[in-house]
Amino acid sequence: MINRIEILRKHIDEILLNMTDAEERRCAYLHLYGVAQACALIALKRSGNTELAIMAGMLHDIYSYAKMDKKDHAHKGAVLAREILTSLQIASDTEIDMICDAIYTHSDKDAVHDDFSEILVDADVLQHCLYNPACEIMAHEKNRYEKLKREFGIE
Ligand SMILES: [Fe+2]
Repeated sequence: MINRIEILRKHIDEILLNMTDAEERRCAYLHLYGVAQACALIALKRSGNTELAIMAGMLHDIYSYAKMDKKDHAHKGAVLAREILTSLQIASDTEIDMICDAIYTHSDKDAVHDDFSEILVDADVLQHCLYNPACEIMAHEKNRYEKLKREFGIE
């Protein structure tokens, strides 16, 4: 069986290693792979598709880091992720749609999305909040963080 996560990781690393700003590069590694692991945890808990969730996590902010431009990065990132997944030939059309739809909507933390897309939105919040739980949680992430803690039995 091909290891799609490793194929994707090599491609992501090529992009990240080309980042000239060392501090941004550190943030990129931490965040993309941190979100990918949080995706795995949440997908396992909810019996979601763990492999696709990890891939979505690795790709979700790739546009911001590849182009050093955060503006509209979710929508543009969905386009870039589709290009990457298509060129690497590691996912079916249906799987590419699932991953790219999740990336497209991931910045919208207030809406409730389909089950697969919810994994990515929650993983994004979890990575931010777990970086340093002693820090104040950002207002737009508070509700999801509290829900996640309850889901994992943390009060
Ligand atoms: Fe993110």
